[in-house]
Amino acid sequence: MQTTLKGKHFLCEQDWTNEELETLFKVAEELKMRYLLGQETEILKNKSLFMLFYEESTRTRNAFECGITQLGGHGNYLTPKATQVGHGETPQDTVEVLGRMGHGIGIRNTLVGGHDIMANFAKYSKIPVYNMQCDLWHPTQSIADLFTIKEKFHNELKGRKFVISWTSAGQYMRPLSMAQSLITLMPRFGLDVTLAVPSKDFELMPMAMDMARANAERYGSKFEVVNDMDTACEGADIIYAKGWGPIMTVGDDEKAGVEMIEANPGWCVDSRRMALANPGAIYMHCMPFDRGQEVTDEVADSAQSVVYDEAENRMHTIKALMALTMGNVQSRR
Ligand code: CP
Repeated sequence: MQTTLKGKHFLCEQDWTNEELETLFKVAEELKMRYLLGQETEILKNKSLFMLFYEESTRTRNAFECGITQLGGHGNYLTPKATQVGHGETPQDTVEVLGRMGHGIGIRNTLVGGHDIMANFAKYSKIPVYNMQCDLWHPTQSIADLFTIKEKFHNELKGRKFVISWTSAGQYMRPLSMAQSLITLMPRFGLDVTLAVPSKDFELMPMAMDMARANAERYGSKFEVVNDMDTACEGADIIYAKGWGPIMTVGDDEKAGVEMIEANPGWCVDSRRMALANPGAIYMHCMPFDRGQEVTDEVADSAQSVVYDEAENRMHTIKALMALTMGNVQSRR
């Protein structure tokens, strides 16, 4: 168990060792138990968390905001427009000022360059910076997903087949960050990862694909890419399916990207596909999902679907993250 996490940023899963993440899961388990029993846990009493959202959010904002409240602190909801960030005040100046008042800062910016912006905040920050989703990663979602899988499979993960499949979710191009976080994190904990995409056009960033392969090799698990959703679902233990834009092919050309998504209909999790999976398989999605396009109601509302547990676990794992990094244990910096 690691006791030296105070002040540590969380911009990407890869920045935390397995031991550090296992520490976080242990704390999350304890905090979830205390939540269940109605026990007050004022670990972060009188501490303030800044939440800078460049975009909208239901789960992430409320997981952080309810989480800090339950730990005895307070969350300040900020947007570029509601601050001088929108007028161009630099990350250096913003975070220097905020760091003299509060104790942690979370940022969401999924546009191209979003990660660079938060890395710049982190560079100058004396308080921990949390990635609330950027263009590359969504680490507070992926750790909640892994925590949920550990719960559902009683910590027996080795050799289980984890499928992350693209879906035909249209209308706009969703970021690659969720899929990239999943393919890189899951092999580190023994899961065999299958990435399913209609074609090479929908593959993820080469640096994420390389990281997934390297992690699989290092931890003795597998990483493969298939171009058929049925093949991916066969023998799966976890089916996680969500859409993203063919950003590696079209860049930010939204119109071309949506046309390519619409040219690949039918990538949707239904009961037939769930039946291809192993008995006891679970269906996952970070939400929000497009019912009818990404998943049928029958699957989304079935006993195999763990999406609401997954969403609740955002809060328990985020509370653990804040308790470990904003709390009172020894700093290593
Ligand atoms: N899963 C997730 O990040 O949801 P929100 O966009 O609602 O925060």
